[in-house]
Amino acid sequence: MTTPTPIGIHDLELATTHYVVTLDDLASHNGTDPAKYRLGLGQDQMSFPAPDEDIITMGAAAAAPLLERNGTEGIRTLIFATESGVDQSKAAGVSAHRLLGLPSDVRVVEFKQACYGGTAALQAAIGMVSRTPNERVLIISSDVARYELDSPGEPTQGAGAVAMLVSASPALLEIEPIAGLFTDDVDDFWRPNDSSTAVVDGALSVSAYLDALTGAWDNLQAQGGPALDEIDRLLYHQPFTKMAKKGQAHLAAYVGSELDVTLPGEAASGGRDTGLALGTLYNRRLGNTYTASLFAGLASLLHQDDSLEGKRIGLFSYGSGSVSEFITATVQPGYFDSSRAARFYAELDARVPLDIDHYRELHATELSSATDVVTPRVSTSQYRFAGISGQARQYERVDQAA
Ligand code: HMG
Repeated sequence: MTTPTPIGIHDLELATTHYVVTLDDLASHNGTDPAKYRLGLGQDQMSFPAPDEDIITMGAAAAAPLLERNGTEGIRTLIFATESGVDQSKAAGVSAHRLLGLPSDVRVVEFKQACYGGTAALQAAIGMVSRTPNERVLIISSDVARYELDSPGEPTQGAGAVAMLVSASPALLEIEPIAGLFTDDVDDFWRPNDSSTAVVDGALSVSAYLDALTGAWDNLQAQGGPALDEIDRLLYHQPFTKMAKKGQAHLAAYVGSELDVTLPGEAASGGRDTGLALGTLYNRRLGNTYTASLFAGLASLLHQDDSLEGKRIGLFSYGSGSVSEFITATVQPGYFDSSRAARFYAELDARVPLDIDHYRELHATELSSATDVVTPRVSTSQYRFAGISGQARQYERVDQAA
């Protein structure tokens, strides 16, 4: 019997927005103790798009360095996962495909199921590569998380994109074949077609997430997946980083295990270190990136922990509504690149701080497809949302040398 070829994540990149809102500023604007955001939610900042940015510009910006490193040969599928889609019919990935200069013999499609869409894309990609192992699949998970101004969800907004290349014999992570699944029809969070902001029942969303975690865990066990003490690191979907801590505490109590639940800035809790804190460092500065959030956590861990070769990581993906999945993966030899964390921290540091008045003004701006508009050039990204013409969104690739 031959051993099946490993399939998984060969390379991964992140991108975020031009602007950043500091949660201390938001707290002082609305009279909240800043510790509520820093410690109560585990968030310091949230990325916010400039008028010429959206899920497509962020997605292309994440994918571009990945394609530069790996080329485009064998990429015959692009899956764009998002829950903040910009069109009801055309896949956002089709615009990204042109911006990235991909060849025409690529199938492009959009996946949606709240924050779970990126994980669904990963499983679909693995299926495709197992059928045609010489092909590679490009996944772009990109989202802008928006709640109403002055709502409890407001400090949990954010924006960002993760691009992943899925292939046989991957350089970063082999995804193991056994997965735990859990679907439950629940109205915890959704975005109606006529609303640009999400509707959420905050308390229900937290309990639905925790129920889904144990549901997916039980299914992983029923399918013959690894026991908790056979998983070295654990990552969770992070709508705000305190949610990962809640998830970790919930799973530890459920399984009867002692796991460390310390986030940065907190007194050490004791228990086995599963990389909880390291996996939250990017997210606490990005905010919620919906479909990209779990994979931004993965990048944060892989970029900053150099001891993971051969180790197993558990990843819990939750998408409100709700669909969730618990997958496991093994880290490949040579995965660590010490320059990656420095590069992404430089990108986070380079964001332009947005004062609260300006942020509120941008938040309240709604574009209508009925009105032609040319967006001002604000972002320094190579990819721009240039405006609306004849009801169609326009995108351009900026020649940075110009
Ligand atoms: P809230 O009204 O701010 O909640 O809403 P709170 O008053 O309970 O405070 C939050 C925490 O801050 C509490 O800690 C307080 O004790 C603490 P906890 O009890 O949770 O451990 N706190 C303080 N800590 C230190 N110093 C202080 C202080 N004051 C209070 N002075 C909520 C919070 C998350 C509900 C709200 O922000 C919200 O609705 N967010 C959006 C929904 C969300 O993120 N849900 C998470 C689960 S659902 C999910 O993950 C899916 C999602 O990503 C969407 C998708 O799948 O597409 C959202």
